[in-house]
Amino acid sequence: KPEESLRPQRLKEYIGQKDLKEVLAIAIQAAQARNEPLDHLLLYGPPGLGKTTMALILAAEMQVDCKITTAPALERPRDIVGLLVNLKPGDLLFIDEIHRLSRMTEEILYPAMEDARIDITIGKGQSARTRSLPLQNFTLVGATTRVGALTSPLRDRFGLVQRLRFYEIDELTEIILRAAKILNTPIQSDGAAEIARRARGTPRIANRLLRRVRDYVQVKRSGEAIDEAIAAEALELFNVDPCGLDWTDRRMLSVIIENYGGGPVGLDTIAAATGEDNQTIEEVYEPYLLQIGYLNRTPRGRVATPAAWKHLGFEPPESQLSLL
Ligand code: ADE
Repeated sequence: KPEESLRPQRLKEYIGQKDLKEVLAIAIQAAQARNEPLDHLLLYGPPGLGKTTMALILAAEMQVDCKITTAPALERPRDIVGLLVNLKPGDLLFIDEIHRLSRMTEEILYPAMEDARIDITIGKGQSARTRSLPLQNFTLVGATTRVGALTSPLRDRFGLVQRLRFYEIDELTEIILRAAKILNTPIQSDGAAEIARRARGTPRIANRLLRRVRDYVQVKRSGEAIDEAIAAEALELFNVDPCGLDWTDRRMLSVIIENYGGGPVGLDTIAAATGEDNQTIEEVYEPYLLQIGYLNRTPRGRVATPAAWKHLGFEPPESQLSLL
């Protein structure tokens, strides 16, 4: 994956998420001093903010291996058992989308997390017996976009539950400058800031946009450094607006505004109008629109805020202002 080479390797190189880094630095230092593995950790927040990166960094800091998997790959009990029995002492097991674990897999994890053992059933029916199999001590790092979708027995078994937040513009600018250096791409800080403003608070998007701008400069302006004007020009071409909204974001807002007078509109309607599924709308698109104050969730559906009306070039009606 192209993302790979841009990932920071150590906590020191990781830009942003100051509170999270502070909490984890303490956990790392304490665990190392006691010669114990890290406590199980649940990371939640919108996609692209660095959950996998953080798991890899934790493993590097603890000098252990990191096995990476995702809940949909752990359908059958033997998938998770195979991973667990092969862990070395202190190893880190990263499970992405952990809210999607099957019930059986989840139940295997409970004693694994709590007592470093698995209970396996041998045989069927009358002759079935359970055997307890000891495991090495390990650290489970779970990641999810929907912490509310976890069952409470699973959530309660994590010693640390931490949220990742959207990045500030100056943090994203720093991330882009770092990535440009690794990619050998000349860039000015105003160019990095322009990309940062359009990156929806998300490093993964920032790095993706940087690559698009880099291609554009290479083809259209051979050799020039990326500055604010070139970045804006390139990203306009790629349909990323000055706030970072793409076609789907704008379509969501325009359906609410133009077809439903600003809302409230149900999630199903928005999903149908954009061709995205409900879950993608809720987990990928809505968090940023909520964050920048363009969207509100109400019990009766989604409402576009006056700021969203203005962004799309409409005058918000009086009735809409009183709804808020
Ligand atoms: N690349 C992607 N995310 C990053 C971060 N948080 N810090 C540094 N580089 C990054």
